[in-house]
Amino acid sequence: MSLYAFFKGTGPSGFGYGSTAEDVTKDLDLSGRTLAITGFNSGLGRETARVLADRGATILGMARSDEKAENTCDELPGDTRPFVCDLSEPDSVRSCVDSLHDHGSALDAIVANAGIMALPELNQKHGYELQFLTNHIGHFILVTGIRDLLVDDGRAVILSSTAHERAPDEGIRFDNLSGEHEAYDPWTAYGQSKLANLLFAKELARRFESEVSHDKTAVAVHPGVINTNLTRYMNPVMQGLAAVFEPLAMKSVEQGAATQTWAAVHPDTSDLNGEYLADCNIDDPTEQAEDRQLAERLWEESERIVKAL
Ligand SMILES: NC(=O)c1ccc[n+]([C@@H]2O[C@H](COP(=O)([O-])OP(=O)(O)OC[C@H]3O[C@@H](n4cnc5c(N)ncnc54)[C@H](OP(=O)(O)O)[C@@H]3O)[C@@H](O)[C@H]2O)c1
Repeated sequence: MSLYAFFKGTGPSGFGYGSTAEDVTKDLDLSGRTLAITGFNSGLGRETARVLADRGATILGMARSDEKAENTCDELPGDTRPFVCDLSEPDSVRSCVDSLHDHGSALDAIVANAGIMALPELNQKHGYELQFLTNHIGHFILVTGIRDLLVDDGRAVILSSTAHERAPDEGIRFDNLSGEHEAYDPWTAYGQSKLANLLFAKELARRFESEVSHDKTAVAVHPGVINTNLTRYMNPVMQGLAAVFEPLAMKSVEQGAATQTWAAVHPDTSDLNGEYLADCNIDDPTEQAEDRQLAERLWEESERIVKAL
């Protein structure tokens, strides 16, 4: 354990900054459980899939190409099944939704983990800024499309980030989702997409509450700061600094995967509907993330966007 993790200690859950995905699943037998995970070929998604499969769960792993999905399944232990899902291509996501229905397994949890961060220049696809499209809209299509596969007490775990604090003042710039009407800033665009992830989890939680069987939960997760392939778009100097500070001020991948793993399967997290989680405990997001009207508007706008794509 790093010195930093030692000083951070643990929270009310008994876990904390230094806990790993293996720690939070110790003694759990996950045989018979099925979990769908996006971005399972790299970083936190891969470690989450590895540990859950090792504990006996079946993993429906999504990657953006057949080759990546198949290779990852070959490399991971246990029962893992490959699915193709390019979150920036609505047709690919829809076809993955169909494949998951054809596969027919009920889902104990969906971990919406994949993401891209801080693209240096404005990138667009289908008329939308690429981080908003990939991180939010792609997951919106996927999660709403396979929501019916969730078991009665199924869980949706949506990866957000403390970077949601860097969203624009108005939260989501509904009049500039293409990103081209104002000066582009990589971190504001990433922050907006991560606020969208958080608002989506909150609104999904409210919708779960109003269902007849309302034991399903949706939570948002900040995994910590971890040196993964997520930094691929950062300049080499920043990447170098990340590598230098990694042992001191960053979580390992094993620690980074802990909160989403805990949220997806631990018995103590079955009643955390609507919460924002960090370091395997409940945390407080920004006021914007608690703005119910903003979350409802984002849901409605997302439905409108998805219909037109
Ligand atoms: N690492 C951190 O410090 C940190 C902090 C806060 C939040 N997060 C969040 O944690 C999540 C996991 O990040 P990570 O650190 O594990 O990063 P990572 O190692 O870069 O993994 C990201 C995953 O997302 C996939 N992905 C990217 N674009 C995609 C697309 N269009 N369609 C399908 N999959 C796509 C990647 O696939 P390819 O390999 O094919 O690109 C990869 O599997 C992200 O949502 C991130 O925002 C991370």
